[in-house]
Amino acid sequence: MMIQNPSMADAASTDVAPTEVVAEFAGATKRFGAVLAADRINLRIRRGEFLSFLGPSGCGKTTALRMLAGFEAPTEGAVLIDGKDVSAVPAHKRPVNMVFQHYALFPHMTVAQNVGYGLRQRRPRLPGAEIAQKVDAALAKVRLADFGARRIWELSGGQQQRVALARAIINEPQILLLDEPMAALDAKLRGEMQRELLELQRSLNVTFVLVTHDQEEALSMSDRICIMGKGRIAQVGSPQELYDRPRNRYVADFVGRANIVAAKIIARQGGIAQAVLGNGATIGVNDLPGDTRGKAEIAIRPEALTLARGKDAVPEDTVALPARVTHRTFLGDRTEYLLMAEGIGPLQVNSPRQAASAIGEHDVGAHVRVLWRAGTGLVLAADI
Ligand SMILES: Nc1ncnc2c1ncn2[C@@H]1O[C@H](COP(=O)(O)OP(=O)(O)OP(=O)(O)O)[C@@H](O)[C@H]1O
Ligand SMILES: [Mg+2]
Repeated sequence: MMIQNPSMADAASTDVAPTEVVAEFAGATKRFGAVLAADRINLRIRRGEFLSFLGPSGCGKTTALRMLAGFEAPTEGAVLIDGKDVSAVPAHKRPVNMVFQHYALFPHMTVAQNVGYGLRQRRPRLPGAEIAQKVDAALAKVRLADFGARRIWELSGGQQQRVALARAIINEPQILLLDEPMAALDAKLRGEMQRELLELQRSLNVTFVLVTHDQEEALSMSDRICIMGKGRIAQVGSPQELYDRPRNRYVADFVGRANIVAAKIIARQGGIAQAVLGNGATIGVNDLPGDTRGKAEIAIRPEALTLARGKDAVPEDTVALPARVTHRTFLGDRTEYLLMAEGIGPLQVNSPRQAASAIGEHDVGAHVRVLWRAGTGLVLAADI
């Protein structure tokens, strides 16, 4: 949970040096009539990175991607690629390619015809042999070397997904945009495709921008994640930064699980705030830059808390909160406890199997103590 200097961690992930920037949203806003689909998006995309847009349905992920691709023009602000404003450049003239939410393959064409479609539209025309050779190379990259003559309806969902990928990489784009490319696949196939996609990105050395509403997918694949809500960017950071230092309640809730506890901040120094919890206990928590004295919300992850019985000794720099077990869910590798903590309210505590077997399980109704170690909680900012 603990990162010593929050302002440095934030700077590292949001500031991209100008020479590293492949594309940029500069105050990009998109209105569809009364709907504000993208609201002043500012984001620099680093050359060669794997960046994900993560957020719930309708938050503006596809809209952001379509502005980068050139299928939508921002109503205000601009989109830049390689430092140039491309707002007036049509999609087919941008060095980007997009894999759509629903692949959009041509069902009456073969796999090879689908993959070579874009190249056949080029003017001046490319020689047929060159097109065939590029199609073969693209199919080999997505492991469909022998599938060129097949019809789209003769393929599985995972294979169709690879055809869509081959079609998108054949033009050697600088940036590949992927709109929920794995949404139609079952869980196992999705895991395999995620690994393949990562390998493909490494081998092509191309910037990938992925849209997903699946937090595990975003956490496991991305160099950085841009969390969106209501058309706005809630936070940008590496998966670990977002998990360890969510800036506000929205991000804390969206990435992993978090207990959110009301507290009063009575002192703050060197990135640590002293928080008085509802039961009167005082604990040191990671602070935000800026003055947060007064009422605050503190986030604490369920795995950062541990359980102890009444007679157990309390380690140093730790508060022990009296609580009663209300629910217990055994999940194999861990047990999830729901507790009612006196003066604080409901808390979730995740106990890994090893720890649980060492202390023993706690029954529903048992009176226990929740141990909260200094430096593991985090002050949240007001919401986005
Ligand atoms: N062409 C359009 N005309 C009108 N409203 C639109 C249009 N495209 C998108 N919107 C609206 O803009 C908002 C953002 O839509 P967008 O498709 O970007 O969301 P999303 O985050 O991709 O959602 P999902 O996860 O469901 O795909 C939504 O409220 C949507 O209804
Ligand atoms: Mg979408």
